[in-house]
Amino acid sequence: MGEIFTGIDIGTTKISFVRGEIKNGKFDISFLRSYPCSGLKKGKIVDMESLISSIKKSLKDVEDNLKVKVKKAFVCSSGSEVQGVYSTAAVKIRKKEIRDSDVDLVIESATAVEIPPDRQVVHILPVEFIVDGVDGIKDPIGMKGLRLEAKVYIVTASANHIQNLISCCSKAGIEVEDFVLQSIASAEATLTEYDKEIGTMVVDIGGGSTDIAVFYDGYLRHVAVFGIGGNHITSDLAIGLKIPFHEAERIKIQFGVALPDINFGSLKFQENEKDIEIIGVDKKPAKVSQSVLKEIIYARCEEILEFLKKEISGIDVSVSSIVFTGGTSLMRGFIPLAEGFLSIPARIGNSDSGIITACSELGLNEGFEQAEPLYESFGPELASAVGALIYAVKSKYFQADLSSGMFGKIKSLIKNFIKI
Ligand SMILES: Nc1ncnc2c1ncn2[C@@H]1O[C@H](COP(=O)(O)OP(=O)(O)O)[C@@H](O)[C@H]1O
Ligand SMILES: [Mg+2]
Repeated sequence: MGEIFTGIDIGTTKISFVRGEIKNGKFDISFLRSYPCSGLKKGKIVDMESLISSIKKSLKDVEDNLKVKVKKAFVCSSGSEVQGVYSTAAVKIRKKEIRDSDVDLVIESATAVEIPPDRQVVHILPVEFIVDGVDGIKDPIGMKGLRLEAKVYIVTASANHIQNLISCCSKAGIEVEDFVLQSIASAEATLTEYDKEIGTMVVDIGGGSTDIAVFYDGYLRHVAVFGIGGNHITSDLAIGLKIPFHEAERIKIQFGVALPDINFGSLKFQENEKDIEIIGVDKKPAKVSQSVLKEIIYARCEEILEFLKKEISGIDVSVSSIVFTGGTSLMRGFIPLAEGFLSIPARIGNSDSGIITACSELGLNEGFEQAEPLYESFGPELASAVGALIYAVKSKYFQADLSSGMFGKIKSLIKNFIKI
């Protein structure tokens, strides 16, 4: 048996378990399954007992299937009140040539920022090193100079939210090895090195929230969470059409289109303009026109896109492409709508790019052929789960071999820094 890694994605609508194995230099995903989740609203925990029971039920099924006990995992979820700040520090280079110990010291100084007690650090990522005023350096070891500066990006979230999540997992029988922010996990699963270089925003639109992460020049530059997601579209349809929530969910998935009856250049959906049959709360059948459905859906999509527009205009790096993940990205017409609205090329993020990128970074082969039926089901709604697994593999690999790069250094320092 090889080395096994487990990722758990706790979302507003579903919990996904994903297991991967590294054996003989090959990385394989051996298990991937989602279960209903309750206890979260808008990405925040509102009922701990319900969440514990959802985790317990799914864990039992996973263990029954795998015939093994799953004791610990990397857990990914949407953070509450997520914020990111830059922090910088400078040190004198002691022996003229930069050594590991200089880098350790400067990173440690940059991460020594005061965090209010109600917030918890969830990620610290390097942005750049500056040697004697020359910026944009990714690995300064071996360079000559007098002064070394480090710039890091520190992501914090509500401490209560993280602690409650960890406590729910622990009460359900799972030890949290590390917490991964949903948007960062989605990025791990879907972005290539090239995406991260050119300036790419990952947008995960789940049931209760929209989580974003912006990468530029190879590193994370911005994170934010907006408490609106696909369930709000369903509620709007339920209220607007006077139908039960589950009926609204059915017609949303079956007939929903995000493009309204207006033109975005040449983009206009004209298929299937027939009325749709619905069952009202009074259990009586009724009909609704496609255009009413589109208008209701569009209103929420526009709200989400307005949020993205505001975030893009508020940051100091340029966004050249957008990758959408999360179940709501599957809404028909959403990608062309987003491209028209934001004037930025967009695509749906599937997890194969992240797996290939991680394997090439770690010098592993990916076992796509073996696990083909599993890989075929890799939709954007599973990106964060797969990303949590990739994150787990990367952080363990880099920690085992600290000479392998900056990520390992930062991770090992963070380990001492975050007390989960
Ligand atoms: N084909 C689809 N079209 C539109 N919305 C969809 C589709 N599939 C899933 N969704 C929506 O995606 C949301 C769930 O997203 P997901 O990323 O799976 O959730 P979570 O918040 O649990 O991580 C729900 O609101 C669901 O209605
Ligand atoms: Mg999710």
